[in-house]
This record gives sequence, C-alpha cells and structure tokens, in this order.
Amino acid sequence: MDLKGCIFDLDGVIVDTAKYHFMAWRRLAKELGFVFNLEDNEALKGVSRMVSLEILLSIGGVTASAKEKEEFAARKNGWYVEFISGMTPDEILPGSLKLLRDLRKKDILTAIGSASKNAGTIIDSIKLRDMFDVIIDGNKIHKAKPDPEVFLKGAEEMKLPPSCCVVFEDAQAGIEAAIAGGMKSVGVGKPELLGRADIVIPDLRKITIKQLRNL
Ligand code: BG6
Ligand code: MG
Repeated sequence: MDLKGCIFDLDGVIVDTAKYHFMAWRRLAKELGFVFNLEDNEALKGVSRMVSLEILLSIGGVTASAKEKEEFAARKNGWYVEFISGMTPDEILPGSLKLLRDLRKKDILTAIGSASKNAGTIIDSIKLRDMFDVIIDGNKIHKAKPDPEVFLKGAEEMKLPPSCCVVFEDAQAGIEAAIAGGMKSVGVGKPELLGRADIVIPDLRKITIKQLRNL
C-alpha cells in the first residue's frame, strides 16, 4: 500500500486503559447487583460510553430510565477518571514510542482515533501529545465504532485518502470501523478476536514499517 498515515486507537493500543474501564464497569455492575466478567468486557471495547452502558445493563438484565442511565454513566466515569488521573508515561505500552518515532522519521503522519471523551486527558498524562499530528476523540464524533466516522475524520484532518491509512485497533468494533472506512487494519491482541484485521500482532513491538507497506 501507499502508506502515508497511521491512525491509532488509544485505549488498549497505546496504553492499557482497558483495564481501568473494566474495573469501573465491574464496580457499577456490582452496585447494580450482578457480576461482570472479563469475557463480557470484550464487547465494550472501542464502543462509546453510553453504548457500553447499554451492553452492560443488558448483560445484567437491568432496565433503567434515561435519567438513571445518565447517572450510571457519570458514576462509572467518575471512578474511571480517578483511575486514570495517576497515569504516567511508564504506562505507555511496549513498542508504541519506537513505532511513533520511526513513523515520524519516514514522514508518515500519525493520528489518534479514539471513542473516548477522556482521550485528551490521557494523552497529556502520558506526555504523548507531540507525537500525534491529529487527535480525534469522543468529543469530536457522533457515531460510535463500528461506524467509521472517527477514522474517516482522522484521515480527513491529515488530508489523506483512507486507502493511504492504516488503523491500529484492539477492539472488534474498531477493526470493523476500519474496514467500513476503506482502510487497512492492524489488530493488536488475540487473532481469535481480531481475525478480520489485515494482520494481527500481540503488541506494537511486533510490527515494522516495511510490513505495513506490504499490507
Ligand atoms: C474507548 C474504549 O476507547 O472509549 C471504550 O475502548 C470506552 O471501552 C470508550 O467505553 C469511551 O470512553 P470514555 O472515556 O469516553 O468513557
Ligand atoms: Mg481500544
């Protein structure tokens, strides 16, 4: 491919905030009277806060009014923000920084494409803002992954056609969004979950620019 830009999901690709989301959702589930496990958590990865809440409530068989749902989501976010407030650059996942630097050296643009409204806070905490040319987060989009909006906006702000962009994702919904947007995708995680990606790697140490150009 004619590689000109890379769009990175944040949670679970650049940093392991997926564990903090899980801890906060599990706490909410407990308060609502049911158990929420890691396996169930897979479906929440990549999707927006309110869609995540809907999935969680359906797992627990809980019905709630719109007002209650707003309160549940705010409660979960309060805990989540507490968890992420202490994040430092030490929590950047292995291989991320080297890959970002290598891309810079080759003049390949970099973007964040995250569903999270907390993405900016996290990027500042881990001191990575300078490594991204474009940041698209949950505050800039209307449609949750698997809708391609977040990645299409990323490509648009980089002024690149989708076909010149590669998406890095740890969530099934994110891989589907990349495919829907006409982009190549790298699944970061387990092949059994991310099999629709063009290539699946366990972490960002396991990819080179040469491999990306061969996608
Ligand atoms: C995504 C996460 O990056 O952001 C999801 O993978 C999360 O699990 C979503 O629900 C929204 O995050 P936030 O921070 O806006 O609640
Ligand atoms: Mg993710």
